Amino acid sequence: MGTRKYKIVTFGCQMNLADSGALSAVLNAAGYIPVDTEEEADLIILNTCSVREKAEERVFGRLGEMARFGKSKKIAVVGCMAQRLGDRIMERAGNVNYVLGTDRMFDLPEILDDRPVVSRVSTQFGHEAIGEFLPTRDDPYSAFVTISRGCDNFCTYCIVPYVRGAERSYSVKKIVEQVNRFVTDGVKEITLLGQNVNSYRDNGSDFAGLMNEIARNTGISRIRFMTSHPKDLSDTLIETMAGEKKIMPHLHLPLQSGSDVVLGRMGRGYTYEHYRNLVRKLRAAVPDISLTTDLIVGFPGESDEDFDQTLDAVREIRYDSAFMFRYSIREGTAAAKFKDDVADGEKIRRLKILIEIQKDASFDKNQNEITKTREVLVDGFSRRSREYLKGKTEHNKTILFKGDPQIIGSICRVKVNSADSWTLHGELLE
Ligand code: SAH
Ligand code: SF4
Ligand code: F3S
Repeated sequence: MGTRKYKIVTFGCQMNLADSGALSAVLNAAGYIPVDTEEEADLIILNTCSVREKAEERVFGRLGEMARFGKSKKIAVVGCMAQRLGDRIMERAGNVNYVLGTDRMFDLPEILDDRPVVSRVSTQFGHEAIGEFLPTRDDPYSAFVTISRGCDNFCTYCIVPYVRGAERSYSVKKIVEQVNRFVTDGVKEITLLGQNVNSYRDNGSDFAGLMNEIARNTGISRIRFMTSHPKDLSDTLIETMAGEKKIMPHLHLPLQSGSDVVLGRMGRGYTYEHYRNLVRKLRAAVPDISLTTDLIVGFPGESDEDFDQTLDAVREIRYDSAFMFRYSIREGTAAAKFKDDVADGEKIRRLKILIEIQKDASFDKNQNEITKTREVLVDGFSRRSREYLKGKTEHNKTILFKGDPQIIGSICRVKVNSADSWTLHGELLE
């Protein structure tokens, strides 16, 4: 057969990381063997992202580098970009053998066996399998759990609903089962994943109900989730976050823009006033909650005033951290028909200003942590030196401290002594 050893290279968001873990489990069950490097592999799988043009260019760049392997290896492009471009990928990269969309990647074992179930280029939607094989993961103590696939929101800039299809929720029962299997396998913390977890539905159960079930019926220590759409964030969810200790006090709540005009054109379905009201309620219910966000600059028609409103929002809300992007036209979306009238240079200028302001806010937020004691899930050694252990606080902040490696995998109390914009340093309390 000659294609027994595989390597998956993952681009894009957590959803893709989760899919790579599920794909890896499917391949392992079919007798394939994961290896650490592309060189060792007979089959290289690129799990790709289409969200911005740069994400796609990166994948074509990687495929170009892989020309050095000649025809000695099989190459599969899977995921969002495979879904969007189909066989156009092979036109540009002649070394690609298989193109499998976001749901079809899980057919890879059948395709490699030349069983004629699906063709080498395949992008139909429909993947309901969850729970058959436990997804693999990089971190022994935390795992992603996909609770829904797809998205029905069609924000005007966004390609995700096209490449991931209509929203489908997995059942509460299957999800609880999967969490329990992870717990048995040593997992302490799960992150529930969906493009918009707030629209999760299974029979009578909504997202808050799902989290209550998981908290009650599994031995998991910590629950996180992403992403929440501000238009669907319910009071019940806020109450659930406040009342359930296992749910970590951190919320990723993408704002995208501080201007109502721009939010309207993005099709986001809320105003800035609605958003800051949510933040007010969240901070009242969950004191000390950490908030993170996504922001786009240079959306079509974004004026200086609109951009200033985004800066004002960032100054007012004071996020713990933010992902900030330059608008990128995505063919086929509603915004692609708008005039992309903010010049590239101006987009870059705005992004730089925004990043500077947010960096100061992140620094201040982390300074506030100093002298506080946090519960830390210790997950390994510092990347730079084995002298320090590394862990995640309740707020999902990375903290470094000295301690016995024996405590890796447990939750410990650590007092914060110093901080910069990205990392906390502390000391272990007994
Ligand atoms: N479902 C999630 C994630 C969507 S993609 C959510 O709704 O938040 C992650 C982020 O990429 C988005 O929040 C948005 O900030 C950014 N993004 C999406 N499309 C983009 C585009 N065309 N140009 C620039 N940024 C984009
Ligand atoms: Fe894209 Fe909007 Fe769906 Fe998020 S909610 S994936 S930004 S369409
Ligand atoms: Fe994620 Fe990129 Fe697809 S952000 S959903 S991998 S387009």
